[in-house]
Amino acid sequence: MKKILFVASECVPFVKTGGLADVVGSLPQCFDKKYFECRVVLPKYMCISTEYRDKMEYVGHFYMDMDNKTLYVGIMKLEYEGITYYFVDNEHYFSGPKPYGDVLWDIEKFCFFCKAALSILPVVGYQPDIVHCHDWQTGLIPVYLKERFHEGEFFRNMKSIMTIHNLKFQGVWDVKTIKAYSGLPDYYFTPDKLEAYKDGNMLKGGLVFADAITTVSETYAEEIKMPFYGEGLDGLLKARSNDLRGIVNGIDYTEYNPTTDKFIQFPYDARDFRKEKVKNKRALQEELGLDKDDKKFMLGIVSRLTDQKGFDLIAYVMDELCQMDDIQIVILGTGEERYENMFRHFDWKYGNKVSANIYYSEGLSHKIYASADAFLMPSLFEPCGLSQLMALRYGTIPIVRETGGLKDTVESYNKYESTGTGFSFLNYNAHEMLGTIRFAYDVFINQKREWNKMIDRAMAVDFSWKVSALKYQEMYDWLIG
Ligand code: ADP
Ligand code: GLC
Repeated sequence: MKKILFVASECVPFVKTGGLADVVGSLPQCFDKKYFECRVVLPKYMCISTEYRDKMEYVGHFYMDMDNKTLYVGIMKLEYEGITYYFVDNEHYFSGPKPYGDVLWDIEKFCFFCKAALSILPVVGYQPDIVHCHDWQTGLIPVYLKERFHEGEFFRNMKSIMTIHNLKFQGVWDVKTIKAYSGLPDYYFTPDKLEAYKDGNMLKGGLVFADAITTVSETYAEEIKMPFYGEGLDGLLKARSNDLRGIVNGIDYTEYNPTTDKFIQFPYDARDFRKEKVKNKRALQEELGLDKDDKKFMLGIVSRLTDQKGFDLIAYVMDELCQMDDIQIVILGTGEERYENMFRHFDWKYGNKVSANIYYSEGLSHKIYASADAFLMPSLFEPCGLSQLMALRYGTIPIVRETGGLKDTVESYNKYESTGTGFSFLNYNAHEMLGTIRFAYDVFINQKREWNKMIDRAMAVDFSWKVSALKYQEMYDWLIG
């Protein structure tokens, strides 16, 4: 049995702020259980619901040195749907209403978490062959495995993988601070190791010291070797390109299933969507106070409201978009205040056409994936993107910019050959996006048969974990040897 350990800062169903949680929550379930065991280490945040916290079982505790302090490390354990989860407990770091907060505080917190996540392993008696680390919050783990933990027999042969879900976030602060929190000696703070542009950089540590690097789509794996997408680390990623590969994300096809989804009123499938899907649209129009009319072209958005997701393009043409005759725009998201307020403003201005829902709701997200006609995701960059996969699964046609995972998962409509599962545009330009939305709208309004055939194709593509989980397994096999 090969033993894998995932270490991450979020994971469905315990705590989620974005797609990382979906991936960490669903991928471990998809490995071949005859050959692979995968356990997961997470922080025991106070914001995890009591439903789960109450079921956690105390395993033990010890004290760990960090930055001249002696800190409590508690270990809690929970078996959930066949997977063993360990939670690192420390109320000083993991209380508060959200998993992340102030940057410097997060850096201290995740330095602690990286060291603690490895330190608990001998105590719980799990000796993984591979520690699979996700994003900057776990970037120090590959470094520690080559440094202090390397001394001990228990850790000596452990390999590590660093998966980049979003290169934008790197855990950067001045060298002195990161040196103090990490406890790593001077040797590690040079430009070929943890230092980048004179600062300390936790993700960079992971990228330098991991045995393999992955990211979440093939296109993003290529893009990040270029300055535009490389966030200052393109040189390093180019240098390590032999060890870097892109494996596209999947989604949990049980959780996201229009036939069994508990959040939607009218279940449907690839055969009966022509009659049934629209009933969900009617119900959502009613619920959100929009005009109740099947003919309206309902455009859905479920997203963190940040620049990454292309909201400056949307802001730029929102008035024009709202002035289209039979359009309805349904937004669910939270994030930057200027975008939250922008959508509130347009909701006020075009109340019967726009519904801005500025909060987090799993239920409403599923309803939008099921009810909308099209799903808008014009990202500036997108490592993978899961929302467009959810939309495809529900026969809701994605409209995307051709970047990262969006490019790899949405095939652009070709009206001559009647192929494609969505609409896409190349340049980061608001009117190019608007033109693409208008094209989609035209097909929806005037060529309903073509539109429905596109839904047939969208619902037929398979972005479950089946194929991608195999690719991870192959990589594990190769690393373990
Ligand atoms: P990212 O991780 O960059 O935010 P992804 O597309 O990979 O983007 O994943 C986003 C995930 O977060 C999806 O599961 C999406 O449904 C969910 N999500 C985003 N915003 C909200 C919200 N306001 N309410 C509910 N779910 C949301
Ligand atoms: C990040 C990326 C997103 C990706 C997700 C899961 O949050 O922004 O594109 O789908 O991680 O890998």
